Amino acid sequence: MKSEFVPPRRDFPLIVNREPIAYLDNAATTQKPQIVLDCLLDYYGSSNSNVHRSAHTLGGEATAKFEDARQSVASFIGARRTEEVIWTRGTTESINLVANTYGTMVLEQNSCVVVSQMEHHSNIVPWQMACEKAGAKILAIRVNLDGTLDLDHYRELLRQDVRIVAVGHISNALGTINPVQEMIGMAHDAGAKILIDGAQAAPHLELDVSDLNCDFYAFSGHKIYGPTGIGVLYGRKDLLEAMPPWQGGGEMIENVTMDRTTYQEPPYKFEAGTPDVSGPIALKAALEYYSHCVQSGLHEYEQDLLRYATSSLRQVEGLRIVGEAPNKCPIVSFLIEGTHPNDVATLLDEQDVAVRSGHHCAMPLMNVLGIPGTIRASFGLYNSKDEIDRLIKAVQTAAQILKQ
Ligand code: ALA
Repeated sequence: MKSEFVPPRRDFPLIVNREPIAYLDNAATTQKPQIVLDCLLDYYGSSNSNVHRSAHTLGGEATAKFEDARQSVASFIGARRTEEVIWTRGTTESINLVANTYGTMVLEQNSCVVVSQMEHHSNIVPWQMACEKAGAKILAIRVNLDGTLDLDHYRELLRQDVRIVAVGHISNALGTINPVQEMIGMAHDAGAKILIDGAQAAPHLELDVSDLNCDFYAFSGHKIYGPTGIGVLYGRKDLLEAMPPWQGGGEMIENVTMDRTTYQEPPYKFEAGTPDVSGPIALKAALEYYSHCVQSGLHEYEQDLLRYATSSLRQVEGLRIVGEAPNKCPIVSFLIEGTHPNDVATLLDEQDVAVRSGHHCAMPLMNVLGIPGTIRASFGLYNSKDEIDRLIKAVQTAAQILKQ
């Protein structure tokens, strides 16, 4: 379906200030609209204070804004309860939190964690560390050559003593949208709990964690037009209550004596120390901005960009698209015969086209595919077909230079 969405480029100072750069690295991080920048400035200029501590007016204002942002995020992801939203520094920290708490609680000698071969390192390494401590095993769902997951293999793996499944909603390297609803049902049927890494999904799909029925869901603010340093972990209330805390300090305690400490209820049990206060407040502004764009047809527009980029890239001689799953978000990975991805990306940069190249923090996936990495163009709400045309022209020029 074609969309009438018009990219609001002028809302993004960096996009305007750094013209003519075509910023096609949105899977790494997105640019921020003025409204998010204003929000940060306004917070520090008129409400800055610590939260949940001080009885003064500023402390009350900061706390109210901070908790109001939590409520907004809960409603954005479809959580039933606000206290199921925990602030973290980003997706990586959210996954580490679960691996270090729920992981230590349930993993035992010879029990298993299932991930997939297409995971980002941040959804592999924390589980390897947790498994190592517990003597547990990591199992990886196979990836098919088109970049989809082999669900028969997943079913087979679930016959083992699997306690936790951790999979990405969308592959950051290939753009594949995984059938997580089905995978969540399968994990639960096997008696396992499941965490979904939603870093790439939050900016491209409608989220409803209650409908998905996942146990944990993680995403980052900076990939959805919010600031860096703020992330979200959604966790089912009963699981959060049963989990031990991970970091100790102020804020997460109920009572401390030199002999013994008792802890607060979730989410505070998992939020030791002074939190990032401006981050959640600016994230709320970013989510409101993004939701407004979604209502104006953003998702259809992005799919249109993806189709246009895919078919245009296919015309380039010697170019191979890596990851041809039927359901994808606007991420296209590719290779050019006889060239190295990093060389191509450098030549694209010289032509003011910003893409990422390399293994995309998904080395096991690259090994399975037998490639050193890819060139990845990933689109966001300010990108246009003109920029895709510039990408194609720049790729053709780079290929010509490198093949001389
Ligand atoms: N996870 C980010 C990416 O895929 C950094 O580029």
